Parts: sequence; structure tokens; C-alpha cells
Amino acid sequence: MATGNERRIARLAKTGDLPRADLKALMATLTEDEAQILYARAREVRERVYGKAVYLRGLIEFTNFCKNNCYYCGIRRDNCKIERYRLDEATILDCCDRGYDLDFRTFVLQGGEDLRYSDKEICRLIRKIKAQHPDCAVTLSIGEKSEASYRAYFEAGADRYLLRHETANLSHYRRLHPPELSGWHRQRCLQILKAIGYQVGAGMMVGSPDQTLDDLVDDLRYLQVLKPEMIGIGPFIPQKDTPFGQEEAGTLIDTLHLLAIIRLMHPHVLLPATTALGTIDPFGREKGLLAGANVVMPNLSPTAVRGKYLLYDGKICTGDEAAECRRCMAMRVEKTGYHVVVDRGDYKAEDKRKEA
Ligand code: 5AD
Ligand code: FES
Repeated sequence: MATGNERRIARLAKTGDLPRADLKALMATLTEDEAQILYARAREVRERVYGKAVYLRGLIEFTNFCKNNCYYCGIRRDNCKIERYRLDEATILDCCDRGYDLDFRTFVLQGGEDLRYSDKEICRLIRKIKAQHPDCAVTLSIGEKSEASYRAYFEAGADRYLLRHETANLSHYRRLHPPELSGWHRQRCLQILKAIGYQVGAGMMVGSPDQTLDDLVDDLRYLQVLKPEMIGIGPFIPQKDTPFGQEEAGTLIDTLHLLAIIRLMHPHVLLPATTALGTIDPFGREKGLLAGANVVMPNLSPTAVRGKYLLYDGKICTGDEAAECRRCMAMRVEKTGYHVVVDRGDYKAEDKRKEA
């Protein structure tokens, strides 16, 4: 006899959806055996769409200056304990060149909301990367900007934009952020990015302070409406010099459950096994790949600044050269039965003709 959760998993795998009460019950009561069934279904779906391929994204953390003060984040404005840095254009281009030689075909430019870089400079950087590496995708992850700025970056050649929604519940959003930031504005930015034509990445932290199961179901519902091409999720991990420094971290298990549920709801989505997942468990990223993830994001930042981009405590890979990280990642991925591919790793859209 199938258990209630086995029936829920079968229905989720078949239809890509579940009523709210069933999603909540699934997350609240999943046993270890049931979780293995959930992960196996998630792997089937990811293999049907993406085979055994794992896509690489080279992360370049180019500035840790930030004008914002999110309560959870280690590079928040009021953290005076960290040493701030900015990479100049030549250094960033050099990271891309080294990344290209290491098989990366996507570069993710990530930073705090640093007003020192003008839109003009960002656009020039995008154009230069695209000129040097026309076969690569450029992803931006630089926060909330005006529609005009987002358009300018897109016209300069940016392909994708990562902006996690963090939590879909607007009052929970207020619990995680100071009053000048709003979940409404965050979601508005995501809509604009989609409308411009970016491949968009949204996502949330798992186990952030005061998060409830209802909040997570709201996140899943929000993602179903937005339909982002990428979904980045990872456990919340406290950073000692932030207001949430003494809060509890999110768990590996909750994150794995959510990765698998997201894979079943969004068969085509690009889903990273994040660094935060690798930080709370030495094999977190491997476990993420085996629960439905299909992307990894090794760091390409120069070793000298790696230890300064600390969003949370204990972050892994801060001492490794890009080449070491790349080798290590290939080995880790191989052990899961998947393999890293040399590919931009674009979103594979559903073939509407087949469905019609
Ligand atoms: N723990 C886990 N993830 C964090 N992020 C920021 N701070 C933390 C933290 N303390 C995540 C946010 C952000 C992304 C770049 O990193 O979700 O969008
Ligand atoms: Fe960076 Fe293993 S992935 S050292």
C-alpha cells in the first residue's frame, strides 16, 4: 500500500502540481524512505529534459560594497568588520579568460548593490566580455535597478539576470529586510526583467528566521506564476556580524526536499546545487544534484578576494584557485553519475508542438 506521501509524490510527478494542503503535508511529514522516492522522481524528470549533463557557471564576485542592509547578509552596509573590495575591468576580463580556458561558457557577474559602477561601465564590461567570448552567456546578479538600467544591460548583451525573490510573503520579507526594501519592489523588478527578455532566476533561502511552511508554499506558488528559467535556493546560514548572527541555519534535508519538489513542478528549470548547500554539508552539492539540481557555480574570483565575499559563515572554496575548484567540481559531479559539460547551458524551453 502506498503511503499518503507516496501518492502525493506520484501526483506531483504526473501533474507538476499539488493542492496547498498536500504540499504542506509533504514537506512536514516526509520520511527518509519517501524522500528517496521523491529524489528518484526528480532525477527521472531532470534526465528526461537534460540527460546527465551538469552545467557550469563561473561566478565572479566583483564587488562586496553594498548600499543595502539586509539582516541576513554578510556584505550588508553596516558590517564594518569586513574589508571591502572592487575588481577593476581588466581583472574581471582576466577572470573570464581564465574561466574560458577552464571550460566555462557562462560568466555570472555578482556583486552587492554598489553605486560606484555606473550603468555605462557595466555595459562596457558586458560588451567586452561578449566581444572576447561570443559563444558565452553573461549573467548579471547585481540587485534592484531601474527599468532603464535593466534595458541598457540587456541591449549591451547580457543574457540572464539572477534576482532571488528571497521570500514571497510580503510580511516575511519585511522581517528579513530593513523598511526601505520591499518584497513588492523586488517582485516588480523580476516582472520587468522577464518582460525585457532576460532568462530570469528567482529563488529563496530555506530556513530563514521566522519562515513557516506556509511561506514556503507561497514561494512555490509564486514561482509557478513567475515561471523563471532559473531557481536558486539554498539554506539560510547565519553570518556572525549581522543581526541574524545568532539565528539557526536552514537544514540540508529541507533544502533537498524543496529542490526535488521544484524539479517536479518545473521540469525544464535550471536549478543550481548552491555553495550554501555545500557549506552546510560536505557533500551537500552532490546530494543536491541527486535531488534534481543540474547546475553548479564554481567560483572564478581571484583567490585574493575570495575570503572577503562572505555572505554567511563557513563558506567553502574560499582558498582555492579557479583551476583547483574546476577539477574538484568535475570529480564531485562524476561521482554522482552525472558529468560537467562545456556548454552555455541555456534553458530548454518546452516544445509546445509536441504537447499540442
Ligand atoms: N545565508 C544564505 N544565503 C544568503 N544569501 C545572502 N545571505 C545569506 C545567508 N546568510 C543569499 C541571498 C542572496 C544570494 C546572493 O545569497 O538569497 O540573494
Ligand atoms: Fe571549489 Fe571543490 S568546488 S574546491
